[in-house]
Amino acid sequence: MKVTSHPAGEAGSFAFTAENEARAGQIIARYPEGRQASAVIALLDLAQRQNGNWLSAEAIEYVANKLDMAPIRVHEVVSFYTMFNQKPVGKHFIQVCRTTPCWLRGSDDLTGTCLSKLGTKLGETSDDGLFTVVEVECLGACANAPMVQINDLYYEDLTPERMAGIIDDLKDGKEIPLGSQTGRQGSSPNGAAAAGVAAVVEEALVVSEDDGAEAALAVADAAVADDGAEPAAEEAAAAGDDALPTDAAAEEGVAGADEPSGVDSGMVTADSPAEKDAAVDAPEVAADEDTAATAPRATDKEA
Ligand code: FES
Repeated sequence: MKVTSHPAGEAGSFAFTAENEARAGQIIARYPEGRQASAVIALLDLAQRQNGNWLSAEAIEYVANKLDMAPIRVHEVVSFYTMFNQKPVGKHFIQVCRTTPCWLRGSDDLTGTCLSKLGTKLGETSDDGLFTVVEVECLGACANAPMVQINDLYYEDLTPERMAGIIDDLKDGKEIPLGSQTGRQGSSPNGAAAAGVAAVVEEALVVSEDDGAEAALAVADAAVADDGAEPAAEEAAAAGDDALPTDAAAEEGVAGADEPSGVDSGMVTADSPAEKDAAVDAPEVAADEDTAATAPRATDKEA
């Protein structure tokens, strides 16, 4: 896939093309009468795309007139959001996310790599007109930090070396894979954990095709049990009370102790009158501090 590019922008008079005029009409029509100003961000985005990825004063005023807004109100919107540019930018507009997750994972090094490679400062456009680099706040891909947005597209799991390679590839007009640059799917776990998850998902899918969703869920549950949660629960049950978790279970951790015992408690309450009585008694048992967390379940069943 190619990185998006934009036509050269111009200052001076501005008007939507016929196509964008029709599109603007559709957007404005989404809002009730008297609320057309709500379309301001969408129309500014349309105008910016038409104008080479920046908004001239004329483009801002054009949008203001179209929405019957005071131009200053539209200027306020433009100056608030980093997605709008108030001066021309390079063909490849690089936004480096600098918020905490990306910063902790090396966003400063990405910015440094971009600027030293291009010989520019933040906000400046390279001499060849190809690149502008800015820093922005969280772009919502923190799980794959550090990342940058270039025009409309995201590049994630970056290193300084990969960032430099992307700039070279953009200069050469090469295609660049989107998203994670380490090849992981979406924000799935890395390394051995990723391999484990992938294997379980694959097995569950095969089982699902043959035996249905419940059987697939059983495969996933078994994988979780193998991972340690289930043994903790079993140990807790063996330590004493079958109906409610014990101190030992609580010490094993919330996941292991609470879930299996609580589920058991609910199931016997529904099925057996004798055990229903046991569940009704549960609040007394649960008076102990360590088991209090599960008491509401028995009470719910009682109700
Ligand atoms: S902190 Fe960088 S995408 Fe959220």
